[in-house]
Amino acid sequence: MNSAIAMKRYVIFTNANLVCLTGDSGWAIQNGAAMLTLDEKIIAIGDETELINLIGKDVACEKIDLGGAIVTPGLIDAHTHLVYGGNRADEFELRLQGASYEELAKRGAGIMSTVRATRAASEEALFESASFRARELMSSGVTTIEIKSGYGLSAIDEQRCLRVARRIGQVLPMSVKTTYLAAHALPLEFAGRQDDYVNAVCDWLPALHADKLIDAVDAFCENIAFTVPQVRRLFDKAKSLGIPIKLHAEQLSDLGGTLLATEFNALSCDHLEHLSAEGVQAMAASGTVAMLLPGAFYFLRETKLPPVKELRSAGVPIAIATDHNPGSSPTLSPTLVMSMACTFFRLTPEEALRGMTVNAAKALGLIDRGQLAPGLRADFVAWPSTIEQPNQLMYSFGQAPKGRVFIGAKEVVS
Ligand code: NIG
Ligand code: FE
Repeated sequence: MNSAIAMKRYVIFTNANLVCLTGDSGWAIQNGAAMLTLDEKIIAIGDETELINLIGKDVACEKIDLGGAIVTPGLIDAHTHLVYGGNRADEFELRLQGASYEELAKRGAGIMSTVRATRAASEEALFESASFRARELMSSGVTTIEIKSGYGLSAIDEQRCLRVARRIGQVLPMSVKTTYLAAHALPLEFAGRQDDYVNAVCDWLPALHADKLIDAVDAFCENIAFTVPQVRRLFDKAKSLGIPIKLHAEQLSDLGGTLLATEFNALSCDHLEHLSAEGVQAMAASGTVAMLLPGAFYFLRETKLPPVKELRSAGVPIAIATDHNPGSSPTLSPTLVMSMACTFFRLTPEEALRGMTVNAAKALGLIDRGQLAPGLRADFVAWPSTIEQPNQLMYSFGQAPKGRVFIGAKEVVS
């Protein structure tokens, strides 16, 4: 007998109101249902006795009573910038006094002030602060997370940030997808040499990719960041290495970044407040997810709304995320962000939840999660008894309900 062969672990979760989100619309709630899992996956959903019969009474099967909880798929936060040093609370005050986000960026504050703080921090300190943030998100129901680099902006500092992101996925039970965002801002040492910096960003990519530090490539396509032709060069490089792309596009103006990103079949285009009708059609045609970020919209006191109705009628999948970062969205509350998506962007509560589950999975290219269904990962949240129906997750804004969080059928937050 080889003792290294792991025993199969069956668990039956009983007494649950499962918000399955299967199908294209509707909550698909199964009341008083049970869910059978084998190792990290769901194998069946239905009546408790039927599920036990399915595996046979003699097979060892753990039973976990979920106490009548509303159970949703684990939340997927598919756009975050978790790894950074310092904070930008003073900049927040300056903006309240009238300074704009763009003005601050042009003065070398904004993203560049976080770059200075990130470079000055040790890798260990970056890991400590980023893993604290990841834990916070996990305790609020997040089971999969995307983490971008973009506050290092040198070969060595981008590598450190990506290593920290990878380590979070190794140390915490949540799944982590990493994204290379070196094209986030122009570092001082490249002042006046924007094209040279883009070349450097392209040159650093193969080694980081070979070290398995990168799952996707992103850029900030904006007047205060990089132009469409510059981003195209980076995307060509990513494509030559077979790396999927995504883009911070049309956040503060309409540069047409979405048209470029869809040419490369981007997984997602993110922000999109200034997206044109042409951009919507291009996204629909390429199957690109529209990643809306209501935290940044709120915190930058934006007034231009993303074209939600148009995205919806064109059939573009809409995802939402915290966009956690120190400058434009320092929140760690996924439920608050879902609430903002409803209040500001007029998503229905069901669309908001789909935005942080099913469609967020699509934005990461993941097909094994985001709903509760046989064959998918057993990543889910059993919300506290104060949540009697799923739309309360968005309705009770700011209350941050803490549920029991399961990842791969293991309880990681109780
Ligand atoms: O997604 N838009 C660009 N990047 C971040 C903000 C970065 C910052 O201000 O530090 C965002 O909003
Ligand atoms: Fe962002």
